[in-house]
This record gives sequence, C-alpha cells and structure tokens, in this order.
Amino acid sequence: MSEHFLVTGGNRLEGEVLVGGAKNSVLKLMAAALLAEGTTVVTNCPDILDVPLMADVLRGLGCEVELEDSEVRITTPAEPKYHADFDAVKQFRASVCVLGPLVARCRRAVVALPGGDAIGSRPLDMHQSGLRLLGARSEIEHGCVVAEADDLHGANIRLVFPSVGATENILMAAVLARGETVIDNAAREPEIVDLCNMLNEMGAKVSGGGSSTLTIQGVRKLEPTTHRVIGDRIVAATWGVAASMTRGDVRVRGVNHKHLGLVLDKLRTAGAEVTPEVDGFRVIQRERPKAVNFATLPYPGFPTDLQPMAIGLAAVAEGTSMITENVFESRFRFVEEMIRLGADARTDGHHAVIRGVPVLSSAPVWSSDIRAGAGLVLAGLVADGTTEVHDIFHIDRGYPRFVENLRGLGGVIERVGSE
Ligand code: UD1
Repeated sequence: MSEHFLVTGGNRLEGEVLVGGAKNSVLKLMAAALLAEGTTVVTNCPDILDVPLMADVLRGLGCEVELEDSEVRITTPAEPKYHADFDAVKQFRASVCVLGPLVARCRRAVVALPGGDAIGSRPLDMHQSGLRLLGARSEIEHGCVVAEADDLHGANIRLVFPSVGATENILMAAVLARGETVIDNAAREPEIVDLCNMLNEMGAKVSGGGSSTLTIQGVRKLEPTTHRVIGDRIVAATWGVAASMTRGDVRVRGVNHKHLGLVLDKLRTAGAEVTPEVDGFRVIQRERPKAVNFATLPYPGFPTDLQPMAIGLAAVAEGTSMITENVFESRFRFVEEMIRLGADARTDGHHAVIRGVPVLSSAPVWSSDIRAGAGLVLAGLVADGTTEVHDIFHIDRGYPRFVENLRGLGGVIERVGSE
C-alpha cells in the first residue's frame, strides 16, 4: 500500500515550530544559478522533494549540483545545455523557470511542458509574449516550449495579470538583455523580491522589486553568489491556521511576519491573538474560531496557496464564511474531500460557501496537490477519530519534516504504508 498519513483529531497544538526556506523561492534561485558561470551557493534550502528534482533538471543542463543539509551548490559550465527534456521536468511544473535563464545564457531554450495540474490549467502565454517582446521567437513544438533569440534587447512589457512565473522568467531573461526593460503589472510576491536581491548580488541591475513596476538595466555578464532563501510564508501560515483551528498556542519562527500581513489579520478576525515577533509570529486561539470571508488574490492579497487552509478554518468556525478563488480555476476540487470529512460546503464557480460545524468527522481522503493535502491534514486535526490522508507525496513536495513538526506541536499523526 502506498504511504499515507493517519491523523487523529482532538489535540490542541502548542509549542514552537521553525520553518525553512520558501519552496517558491528556492527553485527560482536555483534556476538563476544558470545565469553565471561558476559556483553559486543557495543556503536555507528546505528539505523537500522539489529541491532534488530541480537539482536533476540543472544536472541535465550540464551543471554540477551538490545538496548537503540545507545548502545547495550549483556549478554552472561556460556553456550550459539548453534542452530540459520531458524526463527531467515531468515531475513538477516549477521547472519551467529555467526558460528565462536559458534564453539569457544560451540564446535558446527547449523546455518540455509538464502535464496538466489538479488546480487548473497553467498556460505559458504571458511567459512567451514577454520573451517575444525581448526579441525571442517562442513557440510550443512537440510538447516543448521553444524560445530562440539572436539578440535579446530591452522592452516595455505590460503583463495582463501579475503572474509569478511569467514575471520571473521575463526578469531572468532581461538581466542579460541589451538595454532597459520595464515590466509593468509585475508580480509583487516576497519570493520575487528574493530573486531580485539575488540577481543584484550577482551583478544585475534590477530595481522596483516588491512594487508592480520592475526596471532592469541589462548587463553583459553575471557572477556567482551565495544567497540565503527567505522563510516560507505559506508553510508558516499553515501552522498559524492550524493553531487557530485547534484553539492552540503556536509560535512560528524562521519567517518575516510582514510577508503575511493580510493572513494574520484574517486570523485576528477569526478571534486569534496574533503577535508579530522578530523572527516570526505567535498565534493563540482561546475560543472557537469565528467565520471569516477570504478572497484569494496576487500578493499582497490573500494567497491562493492558503485557500485550502482557509476552507479548513471556515469548516469548523462559528458562522458562515464565503471564500472566493480568483487565481486558479480548479482549486475548489478539493472541497469534495472536505465534504467527505463532514464540512458543510457548497461551491458555485469560483465561490464557496461554508457553514461551520463544531467538529468534523474522520474519513479517508485524497490529496490532489501540496496545499490541498496540508489542508486535509489540518481538517483531520479537528475531526473525531482517525483520518486517513492519501497521496501524501504531494505534501512531501512542499512541507519539510511535516510529521516531525506536527508531532512537535502535539498533533497526532503517523506515516504508514511505506514499503
Ligand atoms: C506560483 C506558485 C504557486 C502559486 C502561484 C500564485 C511557484 C513554483 N508556484 O505559480 O504556488 O499558487 O504562483 O501565487 O512559485 N497564467 C496564464 N498565463 C501565463 C501564466 C499564468 O494565464 O502565462 C495564469 C495561471 O493559469 C493562473 C494565474 O495566471 O490562473 C496565476 O499564475 P502564476 O502567478 O503564473 O502562478 P505560477 O507562477 O504558476
């Protein structure tokens, strides 16, 4: 039988948990290492499956990659290969972030397209149109996104939506383009700021990180650097929501609380006492949480990656919550699993209405993606009896030492079924 979790509900989470580097940052920083010949070191790497998968993608492109503890050392050759084939990229979508660096470094890139995703279609049209404005030709050919440029030059690019991935790919191509590039309506996520900082440490000239206008003066060459990944705000907030759902008292460390402004405000609305701390925050929930409305939006809005946790909170809150998903069309699919756990939830298009119940009811459930999986475990913590959460490889892709961390807070969880 494949591995699954057994989660037994009823315990209040208490104690302290340290989060590692952000998944959505580290993978892009590893890709950025392609931009400079020599050895780039990325520290505070989380111990998650996606990091060795990304290492394999980079090895396939001719890099030497060593992973040790929380550090990854990437040695990029003078002439990286430009073809990331299907075997390398099929396991995870984030590998598409090698596209921009390869176009910049090799003037051509062939990156196989990973398949569909349980949270909805994830087209690359904005990535491609941005690269085209920088002077590249880009098509989808034989299951790969292909981009080629004789000469990359600066351009004014206005994104129709502040896509995280498109902003990153265009940014990483523009740093080695001739002249000035301006990306308008750029994504403003803290992980973008982390990438801008690392690129600047490598000798790039990027300004405006964290605002919706990025300005990039192209340079001829970048140098390797050593860079520390920012803390994972999504993992941190997952523990914060878990504290609120279980009426617990949890101190989360290793993250900048300012990256979670709106999320922490929502927990306050649910009745939690939330205290910002130098290296994180603390959440104490004394009474049953109150219903809260959530609408997911690009940063600084409420993160779509926390929508399953928000649904978990709403499922046991006092009152009715309305949750609106504005980023990924199919992310509500996981609500079916929550209903299996006794949640009183209905969805209509991109809205969900959830009437809180005092306690959920344990059942076997299946994770469809990283965040849905984590949301189901949180629901299991407030269900009577023991919930089986299946397809937990998704959770391992994004949450380092998940079982150990949860147990450290007093949660009852066991990994079973490994062979
Ligand atoms: C990243 C994160 C993911 C997070 C998401 C939104 C990583 C590895 N993943 O994903 O965890 O949920 O940001 O915060 O960092 N879109 C297009 N055309 C494009 C690009 C995007 O239509 O060319 C659409 C997508 O289908 C989606 C929306 O834009 O509906 C947002 O996607 P985007 O911000 O690009 O997300 P990712 O970078 O894929």
